[in-house]
Amino acid sequence: MEVILQPNEEAAAALVARIVAHELRTNPHLVLGLATGKTMERVYRRLVGLHKDEHLDFSLCSTFNLDEYVGLFPSDPNSYRHYMEHHLFRQVNIDPRNTHLPNGMATDLEAECRNYEALIHRFGGIDLQLLGIGKAGHIGFNEPLSALRSRTRVKALTPTTLKQNAAGFGGEDKVPRRAITMGVGTIIEARRCILLATGGSKSEVISQAVEGPITSMVTASALQLHPRCTVIVDEAAAAGLKEKDYYRWIFDNEPEWQEYR
Ligand code: GLP
Repeated sequence: MEVILQPNEEAAAALVARIVAHELRTNPHLVLGLATGKTMERVYRRLVGLHKDEHLDFSLCSTFNLDEYVGLFPSDPNSYRHYMEHHLFRQVNIDPRNTHLPNGMATDLEAECRNYEALIHRFGGIDLQLLGIGKAGHIGFNEPLSALRSRTRVKALTPTTLKQNAAGFGGEDKVPRRAITMGVGTIIEARRCILLATGGSKSEVISQAVEGPITSMVTASALQLHPRCTVIVDEAAAAGLKEKDYYRWIFDNEPEWQEYR
């Protein structure tokens, strides 16, 4: 794992967008894993900006989102399909046929999960997976106790997550109880992972995920097993980390990061 500290959330999101842009320019057929949530909105805003100002080309890339609520139509303003259309897909030149999210309205949810895994496989696997982190320490919707080798499946959402995601639904009781999510095992098979966390509310889970033991109680900690995972945090989200000086030293000295410093 590498940890990169940035002074604020804007700088952290800008760095993630620059890495995505670099990967996309290097490989226009990039298979990009996408995440939702407030934190990612800034990243998508930056990517839309790069598309408009620097002609960043999405025409050949494909995307797979981490998760989707069960029981919401794609047109529902709270669905992750709607989020993605609004924040990214409709604002760049991506081919809509190359954008994938699990279908939370599928009549056979188990078949939908199996098909999603098969589709990722058919596209050759995910090159770069973007990740946020929930207050329950989850990646995707892999709530505490999710098996670290789990695959795409339906998960019940914990009270912490229902509370965290309640805003747009007009109350906790209106948040869908279940979601389809890529498994922890699916996620850590991506060739590269980038986790972005900003704000003081994430500092505790970030220190658990980065400096704590690998545990299914904090599924983001499974990223410690990943051979190429970068955690990008702003100062507020980094507040609980013990080894900040060490992470700064690596970022300042590692040749790979030269063009991003
Ligand atoms: C949801 C998503 C996660 C995301 C998390 C963080 O739970 N399923 O993939 O990481 O929200 O959201 P936010 O960025 O709003 O804190």
